[in-house]
Amino acid sequence: MTSTLFDRIGLLYTGDPAREEIPGAALVVEDGRVAWTGRAGDDPGADERVDAGGRCVIPGFVDSHAHLVFAGDRTAEFTARMSGERYTAGGIRTTVEATRAATVAELAARTAALVAEMLAQGTTTVEIKSGYGLTVEDERRCLEVARGFTEETTFLGAHVVPAEAASADDYVRTVTGEMLRACAPHARWVDVFCERGAFDADQSREILTAGVKAGLLPRVHANQLGHGPGAMLAAELGAASADHCTHLSDADVDALASAGVVATLLPGAEFSTRSPYPDARRLLKAGVTVALATDCNPGSSFTSSMPFCVALAVREMGMTPLEAVRAATRGGAAALRRTDVGTLTPGARADLVILDAPSYVHLAYRPGVPLVLQVWRQGRRVV
Ligand code: NIG
Ligand code: FE
Repeated sequence: MTSTLFDRIGLLYTGDPAREEIPGAALVVEDGRVAWTGRAGDDPGADERVDAGGRCVIPGFVDSHAHLVFAGDRTAEFTARMSGERYTAGGIRTTVEATRAATVAELAARTAALVAEMLAQGTTTVEIKSGYGLTVEDERRCLEVARGFTEETTFLGAHVVPAEAASADDYVRTVTGEMLRACAPHARWVDVFCERGAFDADQSREILTAGVKAGLLPRVHANQLGHGPGAMLAAELGAASADHCTHLSDADVDALASAGVVATLLPGAEFSTRSPYPDARRLLKAGVTVALATDCNPGSSFTSSMPFCVALAVREMGMTPLEAVRAATRGGAAALRRTDVGTLTPGARADLVILDAPSYVHLAYRPGVPLVLQVWRQGRRVV
């Protein structure tokens, strides 16, 4: 395979804590991996040259939380919310009905469209959850669809208790039994919506523990709609990530920090549900690793845009542009326990974005502007 020199990079965000930003930089890619980074002019040379023209280069975004396999539409629910209705997650059942009625080909086509939308906005790694099937077969086929697009698949059979279940406990038995057996071969992660109206602490613990026994790694939808036990449970089980984290007590923050659980913040959800944003500054001060992700789903956050989330994090959550870009790249990788993506250090996968801007600050400074000029994945140009 040929090597490529990315030359005349105005600002390189490497994500390497030892040398996080390099102005006037160059980067060499070999065999799909970053081989060298440094000052322009000091490079070891390569077969091909890409002139970045003084623009900023960042790692491809790592979107560590997305629900992309679904059918149907919830425009009316969004419109009602914008005129004052509260978000309750009750609309999940509407999406479940539509998802069950769709064919695998339809689900795959919609997922492909969303993944392409994400790629065009600089996302090169995405996690995809099930959770709109809620029967053994529907969850399994949703994960099979997800598996066609990413290695980062998550079994979220415990999204809500479906309408036809005899009882919540009965459904938990299905999730931890037959459904888990059918889904575990297609998933890397197990997740649960630990929230009032969905699954309580004991049910969530049972589901996550069963998932771990089946070889999956735990992550939790925690403390989204109100204060609840999700963040503590994530800490107790050593989950990779507690996601949402909108309503946290001081004890929750301390528990996340000492257990080394990543807090994945999803500002698209607060935007689309008109809810107060989580306080990223408080988490960062406590030493918690923060990730940013889209939560792309048809109900609470129908955005596929990591640049939009970066802009919201800076404007609404007290993050500096540097902290937000770090959270959207290296933070997302940490939430997925990945060290090969989210940074541009030698050895890392050559997943990178050339922004049509001199600095990543423009992602927040110029919200809504399509600044993603080129996207490269494993050393190949894909956008
Ligand atoms: O992460 N909170 C649970 N699940 C999704 C929303 C799902 C929906 O409303 O369809 C979330 O926000
Ligand atoms: Fe979610």
